[in-house]
Amino acid sequence: MPKPEVHVFVCSQQRPAGHPRGSCGEKGAMNLLQVFSEKLIASGLMNQVSLVATGCLGPCRAGVNVLIYPGGTWYMAVTPDNLDQIINQHLKAGSVVEELVAPDALWQ
Ligand code: FES
Repeated sequence: MPKPEVHVFVCSQQRPAGHPRGSCGEKGAMNLLQVFSEKLIASGLMNQVSLVATGCLGPCRAGVNVLIYPGGTWYMAVTPDNLDQIINQHLKAGSVVEELVAPDALWQ
């Protein structure tokens, strides 16, 4: 496997229903990972992009959270419907999908 140029971290933390922090897992993170993987294969990016399931990234209520490096771009509330835009605009064309970026206020 070649060294990846991009790392995509998808929070897949699962917490019990009713947990006060919620979790990305309860918002469909595992399905998002599956669809993301299928779309990366279909787009021919699997050798350039490393798709990684992670534990909690912090702002759980905003999940599913997706963090992309280089650049540290943080996308919030990502659903499978957003993936074509993230792949085509961000991963292929190098342009951040501004409407999905998490605001700094999430960490305040
Ligand atoms: S559970 Fe995903 S950011 Fe905390």
